[in-house]
Amino acid sequence: MTPSGAGRGTRTRLALVAATGGIGRHALVQARAAGHHVTAVVRDPNRLPGPVDAVTVDLADPDPGALERAFDRADAVLSGLGPRSRVDGPITSRGTRAVLRAMRSTGVRRIVVVSAAPVGTVASPGRPHPPRHDPGDGFVMKHLLSPVIKAALRAHYSDLALMEDDLRKSDLDWTVVRPPRLTDEPLTGSYRTAYGRNVRGGLVVPRADVAHLMLDVLHRPDTIGQVLGVAT
Ligand SMILES: NC(=O)c1ccc[n+]([C@@H]2O[C@H](COP(=O)([O-])OP(=O)(O)OC[C@H]3O[C@@H](n4cnc5c(N)ncnc54)[C@H](OP(=O)(O)O)[C@@H]3O)[C@@H](O)[C@H]2O)c1
Repeated sequence: MTPSGAGRGTRTRLALVAATGGIGRHALVQARAAGHHVTAVVRDPNRLPGPVDAVTVDLADPDPGALERAFDRADAVLSGLGPRSRVDGPITSRGTRAVLRAMRSTGVRRIVVVSAAPVGTVASPGRPHPPRHDPGDGFVMKHLLSPVIKAALRAHYSDLALMEDDLRKSDLDWTVVRPPRLTDEPLTGSYRTAYGRNVRGGLVVPRADVAHLMLDVLHRPDTIGQVLGVAT
C-alpha cells in the first residue's frame, strides 16, 4: 500500500465533516492528493489549511439547509467529528444524526465515521447486551486498560455507541472505524485492520493512518455495514 494512495483510483466528490480536526486535517490533505474533490464541513473555515470549498455548520446547532448544500452532488461523507475536549458535551451522535438526515434528503448513501475501540463493549439502546470483552482485545487491554479508559470516558463512549446505533438503524451504506489511542505520528500506510472487532495487541494508531483507512474504504463494498478495528 502506498501511504499517499488512500482512495486513489476513483475520483470522489467528498463532503468532509470536521475537516479542521486531527483526523479531518489528514483526511483533507490525503483526499486532495488522491484527486478527490472535497467540500469541508466545518464550524470555522478560517482554520482550514489554504483555499478549500467549505460550508460553515456548527453541529451543536446544525442548520439543515447548510448541510444539504454541503452534500449536494456529493458521492460520500467522511466524518472525523468529536468533542474537542472533555468539557465539551457529547456532540458526535447529535451531529451525526443531523448529517444522516441531510444525507437522506440529498440522496447521498455512503458514509464513513470514526468511533473508538472500547465502544464494542458499551451498552446502548440498540445494543443492550454487548459482549463483556471485545474479541480482539488481549489480556492487558481486557483486564487493565479497558476498564480504566471506559470509566474515565463513559459519557463519550456512550455517545459514540448512540452514533453507531443510528448508523445500524439507517438504510445507508455506512462504515464505522474504531481506533485505539490516536497519535500524531506521520502516515505509515501499514496499519492492521479487523472486521467487527479490535486489532489484537493494537494499542495505538496515528491519526494520519486512520484518515488513510477511512479514504481507502470509501469504495470497498466489503466494508459497507461493517465496524473495522484499526491499529498499528
Ligand atoms: N483521542 C484519542 O486517542 C481517540 C482514540 C480513539 C477514538 N477517538 C475518536 O476519534 C475522534 C476524532 O479524533 P481527533 O483527534 O481527530 O479529534 P479532534 O482533533 O478533537 O477533532 C474533532 C473535530 O470535531 C469538530 N467538532 C467538534 N464539535 C463540533 C461542532 N459543534 N460543530 C462542528 N464541528 C465540531 C472539531 O471542530 P473544530 O476543529 O472547529 O474544533 C474537530 O474538527 C475523537 O473525537 C474520538 O471520538 C479518539
